[in-house]
Amino acid sequence: MIERRSAYAELSPSQRIIMTPGPVEVDPRVLRAMSYPILGQFDPEFTGLMNETMQLLRELFQTKNRWAYPVDGTSRSGIEAVLISLIEPGDRVFIPIYGRFGYLLQEIAERCGAEVVTVEKEWGTVFDPGELASCIVRERPAVVALVHGETSTGRLQPLEGIGAACREAGALLVVDAVATLGGVPVETDAWQLDAVIGGTQKCLSIPAGMAPITYNERVERKLLARKRVERGLRADGNERDRRGEASLPAGSPIRSNYLDISQLQDYWSPARLNHHTEMTSMLYALREGVRLALEEGLEARFARHRKHESVLVAGLAAMGLKLYGEPACKLPVVTCIEIPDGIDGEQVRAVLLRSFGIEIASSFGPLKGRIWRIGTMGYSCRQTNVLHLLGALEAALLYAGYKLPAGSAVRTALRMYDEMHDKAEEGLP
Ligand SMILES: Cc1ncc(COP(=O)(O)O)c(C=O)c1O
Repeated sequence: MIERRSAYAELSPSQRIIMTPGPVEVDPRVLRAMSYPILGQFDPEFTGLMNETMQLLRELFQTKNRWAYPVDGTSRSGIEAVLISLIEPGDRVFIPIYGRFGYLLQEIAERCGAEVVTVEKEWGTVFDPGELASCIVRERPAVVALVHGETSTGRLQPLEGIGAACREAGALLVVDAVATLGGVPVETDAWQLDAVIGGTQKCLSIPAGMAPITYNERVERKLLARKRVERGLRADGNERDRRGEASLPAGSPIRSNYLDISQLQDYWSPARLNHHTEMTSMLYALREGVRLALEEGLEARFARHRKHESVLVAGLAAMGLKLYGEPACKLPVVTCIEIPDGIDGEQVRAVLLRSFGIEIASSFGPLKGRIWRIGTMGYSCRQTNVLHLLGALEAALLYAGYKLPAGSAVRTALRMYDEMHDKAEEGLP
């Protein structure tokens, strides 16, 4: 008998304060939900939880859509699933780009064989919705894909009016709300968004690994048309269900199995046609995370995100730091700071992480080395985190030789929190 001993110590990750634009700290109640025993994927208790999750997601997405469920994979799996299921080779796809994640939409659409038309805005700004509406009516694309909250630049693209323009042009509007869902209003029905993709690891404070999506009957019609061309048995052994699809013009087959949302919706329908094996523990996490968001109340949750953002911004200003980007379109859950001249941004981040256990983010592409990005998202968006971060950042900057009025950031933040607390006690908004 050979005795085997593991060369590795028991897993024991460090406690961190995570103030990046995702992933952020996971709510302990979500972590607890993930530790429960698994159920079989066709156990009625489990399919009951799947149905409850769909209803919770409808409320979160502010929609009456029939379809609201997660794609198993990180947020981009949801984006890719929607785009690959909607875009037929040769389709014209219009993508307004104002940061890194617009390029992700472009890349995925190109891989789907689309004829992609883009317009670009300088990073740090967003599009005027009226300007986009005119482009859409002129270009008459089959699909418009747009990022709602651009984490690379910390900007929020207003969406009102764009859905109406898409309907006028006969286009489907797909929105990446990965960074905004659960932290900033995402009004799927009121804004006439045809398909929306959210993220778990940001404002919902659930680990990365699922992408909640919702889509309406305009999208479903296109899916069913593409399904009509399929023949015979599916890979899962089920007969293809073509009832009700005969009146639709046939489209080309969807070029993915895992990300084919016409098959995923069969799995999430009462028919429960088997597709993949559902991620039980992640579904528990999603159900609990979304339940917690709704229990807090969407309006209250959005207000909490704005409150801590306002204190953070005031504290940074008191330190003499300058924010990056156009203030009018600032994304409330991401704050971008210009790294002061002569300061090594990576060294400051390293001090924050190593000595204070606080993580903030660097940046991508043209902004690399120029800005830091701070997330105030979900469970990470709370008073103690903002105060710890302001104090630690001040210390790290002083240590790096930056001249600032010591103590003023935390003092400003404490005063603001006290005033907010007094107002709340008096019942004032
Ligand atoms: C706006 C936006 N879209 C898409 C993604 C991709 O998400 P994931 O890394 O979960 O695939 C991110 C991730 O940071 C994001 O911020």
